[in-house]
Amino acid sequence: MLEKNQEYEVDIIDDGYQGEGIAKIDNFPIFIQGAIKGERIKIKILKVQTNFAYGKIIQIIKESSNRVEAECEEYKKCGGCNLRHISYDYTLKIKKAIVENCLYKALNKNIEVHDVIGMENPLFYRNKLQYPVGIDKDGNAVMGVYSSRTHNIVPVSNCYIQNELCNKIANDIFAFIKENNVSVYNETILKGTVRHIVIRIGVKTNEVLVTIVVNDNNFKMDKEFVKYITEKYPNIKSIVKNYNTKNTNVILGNKNEIMFGSGYIYDILGEYKFKISPLSFYQVNPIQTEILYNTALNEIKSSSDVKNSTALDLYCGIGTIGIFASKYFKKVYGIEIVEQAIEDAKENAKINNVGNIKFYAGDVEKVLPQILDKIDEKPKVVFVDPPRKGLDNKTVELLKSLKPEKIIYISCNPATLARDLKELQENYTINSVQPVDMFPFTHHVECVTVLYARKTM
Ligand SMILES: C[S@@+](CC[C@H](N)C(=O)[O-])C[C@H]1O[C@@H](n2cnc3c(N)ncnc32)[C@H](O)[C@@H]1O
Repeated sequence: MLEKNQEYEVDIIDDGYQGEGIAKIDNFPIFIQGAIKGERIKIKILKVQTNFAYGKIIQIIKESSNRVEAECEEYKKCGGCNLRHISYDYTLKIKKAIVENCLYKALNKNIEVHDVIGMENPLFYRNKLQYPVGIDKDGNAVMGVYSSRTHNIVPVSNCYIQNELCNKIANDIFAFIKENNVSVYNETILKGTVRHIVIRIGVKTNEVLVTIVVNDNNFKMDKEFVKYITEKYPNIKSIVKNYNTKNTNVILGNKNEIMFGSGYIYDILGEYKFKISPLSFYQVNPIQTEILYNTALNEIKSSSDVKNSTALDLYCGIGTIGIFASKYFKKVYGIEIVEQAIEDAKENAKINNVGNIKFYAGDVEKVLPQILDKIDEKPKVVFVDPPRKGLDNKTVELLKSLKPEKIIYISCNPATLARDLKELQENYTINSVQPVDMFPFTHHVECVTVLYARKTM
C-alpha cells in the first residue's frame, strides 16, 4: 500500500493528458507532473486516492530524449503551459494520442486520427493576452498568470506564448497602475478596481485593442492613461473599460465604455478582413486558424454534390467560417449567442462584400428550429464549432432530424467531440479526424472531422 511522503524509484510507462507521466506500483497508477514516458524517476508520494496517487519528481535517474530545458523561467510556477519540458514534436505525438484515446473509448469503430498539424514556429503565437491583476501575499500589486489550479498570480513579464508587443504593452500598463497607485482588485474581500488587462492584436493589421477590466467606478485617470499608453504605442487603435462587478471566474462583464478610438480593431484572415470587438470570440492563433478553416473547407472544395447549396455556420462567432465558406454556397446562415459578435459578423459580411450570408443572434438550440422554418432550401452542409462543452442534446437531436449531407465538426475538446460523435454515428459515417495544434505547449488540441450522412435504403 502506497503512503504519503514515501519515496520510490519508478519507470514512466505512459504520458498523461496534461504533461504528467504515469507509473505503476503493484498495478496502482501514480501521476507524476513533469515526467515523460521512458524515464526512470525517483519520486515522493504527494497524495493517495482510492484508485490512483500523485507523486512528485525528486530525481530524474534516466532522462527521455524528448525532454528539453523550458526557455520560460516561470514555467514551473505558472499554470499557462504544461508541456514546455517536452520537445515540440513529441508534444504533437502526445496530442494525437489524447485524441485517439478519447475517440476509441467512446466509439465502436477505429477512426483514423491523422498526425497533428503543428506550427513552424510555436512561440509568441497568441493574439489575445489576458492577465489578472491583484494583490500578492505581501500586499503588493501583481500582474501575471494564475498558477495551476489556484488564483495565486505568478508575476509574468515575458510570456513565451503571447504576442511580444502585447507583452510589452501589458508591462507598461501595469507600470502605470503601480506608479499612480491605481487600486487593484482583491479577490478575497471583493474590493479594489482593476481586475484584468486584456490586449488583442490583429497580427496582420498590427492594430491593438486594450481592455481594462474594472470592478467599480474608481479608475479615474482615463485621460492620463490614454495619453501615456497611446504615445508609447501608436498601434493602439482603441481602449475600452469593461465593467465586471460579479464574483466570478469569467473575465469580462457585459458593459463596455470606450476610452479611446472606435471600440474595435480589424484583422485579416486569408482573403478576408474581420472586425473584432472586446466581447466577441476570435480564434487566438491566427496562423493555425487559416490552416484549420482550410482543412474544414477542403471537403467542400472537392465535393460538387454540395456546392451551391445552403449551409449553416453554428456557433459562428464573428462569422469567420461562414464568410470563408460563402463562395462555395448559394446561401449561408450563421447563429451565435453573443450579440456583439453578431453585430461584428454582419459588419464583416458587409466589408468583405459577401451578400449571401445572414446572421442571427441567440442560442443555437432555440434559434436553429426558427431558421429552419423560415428558409426555402434544406441545408446540405452544417459547420459546427461549439465551445468546450460541445453540442447540447437538443442540438444533436435537431441535427439528426435535419440530416444534412455533411456535418463539419470543429472541436476544441476531444472528450466532448467523442461524446457527440458517438451520438451522431448512428446516422453518420466518420472516417477520420484531423487535429490542428492551435495552442502549442498547452495540453489543448483542436480537431476537424467530417461526418457523412448514411444513405438510407
Ligand atoms: C469555439 S467558438 C467558435 C467561433 C467561430 N466559429 C470561430 O471560429 O471564431 C464558439 C462560439 O460559440 C458561441 N456560443 C456558445 N454557446 C452558444 C450557444 N448555446 N448558442 C450559440 N452560440 C454559442 C460562443 O460565444 C463562441 O463565439
